[in-house]
Amino acid sequence: MKIISFEGIEGVGKSTQLRLLKDYLESKHFLVEVYREPGSTNTGEKIRDILLNSANELSNEAELLLMFASRAELIKHKIKKSKSDYLLLDRFYDASLAYQGYGRKLSIPLIESLITFTDCPVPNYSILLDIPVEEGFARKTNDDIDRIESSSKSFFERVRKGYLKIAKENTDRFIKINASLDIDKVHQKIINHIES
Ligand code: TMP
Repeated sequence: MKIISFEGIEGVGKSTQLRLLKDYLESKHFLVEVYREPGSTNTGEKIRDILLNSANELSNEAELLLMFASRAELIKHKIKKSKSDYLLLDRFYDASLAYQGYGRKLSIPLIESLITFTDCPVPNYSILLDIPVEEGFARKTNDDIDRIESSSKSFFERVRKGYLKIAKENTDRFIKINASLDIDKVHQKIINHIES
């Protein structure tokens, strides 16, 4: 089984690229499962509602722990049990390093210990779709703004920089792609990397 995670700030087109890759892999007769974080289990989806509902006031610490509570459920009930050829993850633990670590300025070693504690498998590939913060948000103007999206621009600048740092530190699995390119070009780049 191969795990491919998709990462990036809001508006980079993760979900579109994930769907295109799923279609591509299925056209090659691979068995593919897709999960999103936070969410994708019964409990995880409830936790997602708590995390994203703008009516909820959450401390940064609670936000971090809820992300990992959802992740623990996903790992135990879905990832560890999977018999598929590919698991495509719409975000995984790198998102906690980028958003809660670099963005909210919580302790990176603490987050790393939660990654170990919840027994997170290391993805075979992590695709970082990178785009300037303004461009990402400009693409999202029709959506409702959720609790995390209503964070400041400087927060998202830190998240973007954090992702770039994580990608640089993990070149064995990270593929950084300019998400300002056409949807088809980004898809082709993803396929080229995975096939090589
Ligand atoms: P989504 O909109 O891409 O589904 O992600 C939900 C939001 O949750 C998005 O703003 C990123 C955020 N998030 C974190 O802050 N930390 C995490 O560990 C994960 C998985 C997501």
